[in-house]
Amino acid sequence: MSIPQLSWVEKYKPKTLDEIVGNDAAKKDFLDWLEKWDERGKAALLHGPPGVGKTVLVEVAASTLNYRLIETNASETRKTDFLENVIKPAAFNRSLFSSKVLIFFDEIDGLSSEETGAINFLLELIESSRVPIVMAANDPWAPHLHKIRDKVYMIPLHRIRSQSIIKRLRDICRAEGIRCKQEILVMIAERSEGDMRAAIEDLELLYSTRGEVSVDEAEKILSRRNVERNIFEILRMAAYASTFERASISLSSSEEKPEDLLEWVFENIPHLSPRQWLFPALRYVAEADMLIRQISKNSLWRLLPNFYHKLSSAFLVIPQKNRINFSFPNRIKDRFKRIQHLKNLRELESFFMKELHTGRRVFRREFIQVLRYLSRDEDFRSRMLSRLSDSRLRELFNSIILGEETYRRHA
Ligand SMILES: Nc1ncnc2c1ncn2[C@@H]1O[C@H](COP(=O)(O)OP(=O)(O)O)[C@@H](O)[C@H]1O
Ligand SMILES: [Mg+2]
Repeated sequence: MSIPQLSWVEKYKPKTLDEIVGNDAAKKDFLDWLEKWDERGKAALLHGPPGVGKTVLVEVAASTLNYRLIETNASETRKTDFLENVIKPAAFNRSLFSSKVLIFFDEIDGLSSEETGAINFLLELIESSRVPIVMAANDPWAPHLHKIRDKVYMIPLHRIRSQSIIKRLRDICRAEGIRCKQEILVMIAERSEGDMRAAIEDLELLYSTRGEVSVDEAEKILSRRNVERNIFEILRMAAYASTFERASISLSSSEEKPEDLLEWVFENIPHLSPRQWLFPALRYVAEADMLIRQISKNSLWRLLPNFYHKLSSAFLVIPQKNRINFSFPNRIKDRFKRIQHLKNLRELESFFMKELHTGRRVFRREFIQVLRYLSRDEDFRSRMLSRLSDSRLRELFNSIILGEETYRRHA
């Protein structure tokens, strides 16, 4: 099984308050609230659109002020035994922990109106806890959350301004050692609509497999990405859904090909699931895999809902999930790389076809091998490189002929 590398969203998750850009008022407000907290104080609720740093603000503030953070998402918040055995002791029996404790309920808008047990628990806890309680929600205005709203200190966060997003993206480019065109950074920032997570995901998609990207290419890739942006949301909703139906509905709304969706689930589930539930989860993925092969081989499309059911089961069979940001499956990344390689190859070919007065087929079949062979000679290599006038050609020559590029199975 291939393990996905750390996504850039994870890799560049802020570790200090300074690295969290934008929302200065909310940052200050929250820190002040936490520093001044006393036992009679209310709980706080950070709210605002996705990807603006609600979760990461709580995490960084806690570590900055030396709190031990007990962090839960919606799917844990609805587990009575978890609330009783982990949260209650933490809230009432401070001696259990040597350090200060901060309890964080993330994504409480993930609780549905039927989940009155969890909501009542929160209400009671807010009244009586002896440690600070923080909550976060994208949409705090749902009617069933109104009792909670009345009892907490509300701190709004807003979409991140383009300028701030661009600045953060530029820092990431610098750290990755890539040259990003300002125009492209602006494009990413504007498309993100203030969602920093989405912007970083776009940046990674554009640059993680390529050294350079033209504005045209970026536009093309990012417009295809609209569909893929969706996939991150769909997976998040399905993975943390409270019921089987919701997970299925979410997955089947994806515009990805079923085979690709499977890839997403397969590569991410080892991160989502603690080890003890990984085996049953992967068994469902394997069943989904067999099913989709049958379906497409025999055109049994009416069975497709069963495929989504299997994938949903893979999520639902994990009672307690790690909080993860989903990352691009390597196999799909590889596919992008392969397409990129073919494009590079064409570009280099077009140059040599003119130079050598030869056709594409002949070039691919024969000249590439000859060039590779001759280029083992240092002298030939340097003469060749000095004849290639522009840097783009030299780069292509380097990668395709001298062989830094990995995809050689092209002919
Ligand atoms: N204000 C920000 N500054 C820097 N990075 C951010 C910011 N907001 C989000 N990110 C990036 O996006 C990721 C997700 O942010 P998160 O805090 O989970 O957003 P939210 O909880 O508001 O949906 C973070 O790990 C980080 O990489
Ligand atoms: Mg969050």
